[in-house]
Amino acid sequence: MIQKKSVKVHRLCVVGAGHVGLVAAACFAELGHKVICVDNNRKRINSLRKEIMPFYEPEMEALVKKNLKRGTLIFSASLDGAIKESDVIFAAVGTPPLDDGSADLTSVENVARAVARNLDGYKLVVSKSTVPVQTGQRAKETIHRYRKNNAEFDVASNPEFLREGKAIYDFFYPDRIVIGVETKRAETILKEIYTTIDAPVVVTDINTAELIKHASNSFLATKISFINAVSRVCDLAGADVGKVALAMGLDKRIGKEFLNAGTGYGGFCFPKDLEAFIYISKKLGYDFRLLKEVQNINDGQRRYFVEKIKEHLWILKGKKIAVLGLSFKPDTDDMRFAPSITIIDILLKGGAKLSLYDPQAKGEAEEIFKEKRVKFVKNPYEAVKRADCVCFLTEWQEFKDLNFKRIKRAMAYPLVADGRNMFDKEELHGLGFEYIGMGR
Ligand code: UGA
Repeated sequence: MIQKKSVKVHRLCVVGAGHVGLVAAACFAELGHKVICVDNNRKRINSLRKEIMPFYEPEMEALVKKNLKRGTLIFSASLDGAIKESDVIFAAVGTPPLDDGSADLTSVENVARAVARNLDGYKLVVSKSTVPVQTGQRAKETIHRYRKNNAEFDVASNPEFLREGKAIYDFFYPDRIVIGVETKRAETILKEIYTTIDAPVVVTDINTAELIKHASNSFLATKISFINAVSRVCDLAGADVGKVALAMGLDKRIGKEFLNAGTGYGGFCFPKDLEAFIYISKKLGYDFRLLKEVQNINDGQRRYFVEKIKEHLWILKGKKIAVLGLSFKPDTDDMRFAPSITIIDILLKGGAKLSLYDPQAKGEAEEIFKEKRVKFVKNPYEAVKRADCVCFLTEWQEFKDLNFKRIKRAMAYPLVADGRNMFDKEELHGLGFEYIGMGR
């Protein structure tokens, strides 16, 4: 990939082989650095050594295989060993939500303590995980508290902005690289690590860098909830939210991205980061009510979608509904906080009989719905057999290529509920379908 400039090779340890960590480890290795990717999940590490990926991410497997082969990437289950061997430690560990909405920072503390145990010379400890503002300060205090000597170290923040499904591309072609540092030394090392990537580098203090990540994700979620709220008004007024978004997006100050109305955002990032940002803002003394409303609008979209289906079918009980697309977005098998989970729950409570299909997320979905009365099928055509409605909840390309004449023939009643506004409404009407969209 991007290898024109010469690289000063650094010895990196990436803690965490999850979505952020594994992608970062493989991409750093691709840039030419010596990378140890460490995770306390031994099973995951053993599989990775055998070139078996723990989740689906386009292009990742090839990158991991290539760099394992050329020795720039190794996997380890020994955190202490990996830290000893490295000069720069990237923490890409989970920060899951706790019941009160705050982020669980136990794993971040664990990394700081492990660094303190193994500090035998200067090391730079960088957080890639999404963490609340002031976490870097806490990590620094922790290392000070537990280190056994006076060896120097720096902490830094380098938030990751990659999207699942496009993670490798986002790593090599980011819109910006954010570096939150306290010393010139840390800044120089981080700039050297990314030297071959052509992107603006924003250098800030650590608090600011941490806040940039929460603010960015919260703003994107706000954009989605804004257009979803507009879509509700469009439905009431008989207007088309697609056209509204198109024209709004042509204004450069607004931008066209993240203006697709539908069943709302899901995934492990937006829901958790909004919750954590609201929590930390409150703790600091600010009530971020705007973001609470963003959450309310998002939750409401799922219920509204089912209400629309009910409106058409009259009675849900006993109706057969095909649900196509379960992952929270296309090109991933990730089901975390996916809108499909809530929608399926409401449909089941209403007594509908469900046939489910997703091109990648079947395994994860089977685990989530194992207690529920649902049937998984092998392809979309099987799902729609004698169905009274087909719901599209994820905009997989495979669904855009479906033969709708064949679908219509198979269904008991030709109703398409398009939760992602992915189809041409007029075309489906032309084929004899009833169509439910979101704000159009
Ligand atoms: C998001 C951010 O986009 C990344 O920049 C960030 O690094 C990442 O979170 C993270 O914090 O780790 P991701 O969760 O992978 O990435 O997914 P997105 O592509 O942002 O989509 C999030 C959700 O919003 C999806 O459910 C998607 O369907 C929904 N969405 C997106 C809409 O409903 N409408 C839109 O117009 C765009």
